[in-house]
Amino acid sequence: MDKFLIEGGKCLRGEVRVSGAKNAALPIIAAALLVKGPLVIDNMPALQDVNTMLKLIESMGVKIERRGDMLVSIDASSIDSHKAPYELVKTMRASILVLGPLLAHFGEAEVSLPGGCAIGSRPVDLHIRGLEAMGANIVVEEGYIRATMDGRLKGAKIFFDTVTVTGTENILMAATLAEGQTIIENAAKEPEVTDLAECLVSMGADISGAGTDTIIINGVDALHSAEHSVVPDRIETGTFLVAAAMSGGKVTTTATKPGIQEAVLQKLIEAGASIEIGEDWITLDMQGKRPKAVNITTAPYPAFPTDMQAQFAAMNCVAEGVSHVKETIFENRFMHMQEMIRMGAKILIDGNTATIEGSTQLRGAPVMATDLRASASLVMLALVVEGETLIDRIYHIDRGYENIEEKFQAIGGKITRISANH
Ligand code: EPZ
Repeated sequence: MDKFLIEGGKCLRGEVRVSGAKNAALPIIAAALLVKGPLVIDNMPALQDVNTMLKLIESMGVKIERRGDMLVSIDASSIDSHKAPYELVKTMRASILVLGPLLAHFGEAEVSLPGGCAIGSRPVDLHIRGLEAMGANIVVEEGYIRATMDGRLKGAKIFFDTVTVTGTENILMAATLAEGQTIIENAAKEPEVTDLAECLVSMGADISGAGTDTIIINGVDALHSAEHSVVPDRIETGTFLVAAAMSGGKVTTTATKPGIQEAVLQKLIEAGASIEIGEDWITLDMQGKRPKAVNITTAPYPAFPTDMQAQFAAMNCVAEGVSHVKETIFENRFMHMQEMIRMGAKILIDGNTATIEGSTQLRGAPVMATDLRASASLVMLALVVEGETLIDRIYHIDRGYENIEEKFQAIGGKITRISANH
């Protein structure tokens, strides 16, 4: 397994181009299953998870054509299977996003139940209940979700008692081809859901209310080909801005979207950063100061995102003062804390709240990545504290960050990848 060797004590300064959002690209790839004819997707991030999703639909006979390093054309006209096999689904839970489109367009789908994952049990009961409300016959057996339809999905009123991002996206996609009107209540408002909706509307879907907690979809008989550019990744943006804040440096993120990351920018200002924003760029300048510790409570958008919790925990470990980090979305998303304690961090965990006492005494140490955002937070801490750090199992990072070592090297980070085969 590849490792990262990192030499700390660096002040990060420079410019980073942000890639398209992983969590928008994945549902938009699945949306290509709703139409016979090419869906052309631009600003596609070069990520392991994107490759997995493309491989999954290619295994169903869908034609994938890559044009340049950020443009992909997907044509589902040649599809000859409606099965998402365990071998692929077990490596990426977001594979569940093919369930709604396959059912809506082809009347059947067989998708492996995603296994658990490091950060929590991650059930898909809300996805299944929503599709059953639209008339699907769903049986879960032998580790597979087997869904069939007599005729066409029917529009329905669906209330999610827990806000679910991919649950909202699955029902949103299925409803575009259903007969009649679907209303999704307590819908996820994440910008990636809105980006998917904008893509579906460009394909001829009739959707209103995306980005609010009530989305209304009037089904149409068929969708058509379209082109869509993936929204910039607000979590990648936040990751580099927090890294800059931890290092006392100055970093500009470009090709990003300032308007969809208010909660994170507010917390960085509270930590003492000066933030300047333009149309598609954000500059954070720490003016050499040590950040102040900030309290964090994760919650659905537009509140503070769970995908930025580990990164701010890393900042709090070296910040001035004591802070409380509360994780309300997933039941096991503190694994990075144990690794940070190996580096000398002063952290007390009590249930879903971690109390962190900022310190300047942290030092590099051998640590292990456990999940995507946790891995990024360990890289950030290793770049900043004195000493050398070796991070194992960095395949987690490659799933969700495009060329993270090159991007950190470009702003002064001393990070090299040690490949397992030498
Ligand atoms: C999406 O996961 C993201 N992944 C996650 O990003 C993100 O952390 C999460 O939303 C929350 O924002 C993608 O978009 C591909 P949920 P998702 O359904 O949709 C419970 C990353 O790092 N729930 O919104 O799987 C669930 O257990 C990843 O990029 C049910 O109970 O998350 C959780 O407690 C990690 N039943 C809560 O809802 C269901 O059927 C929110 O989960 C579905 C979810």
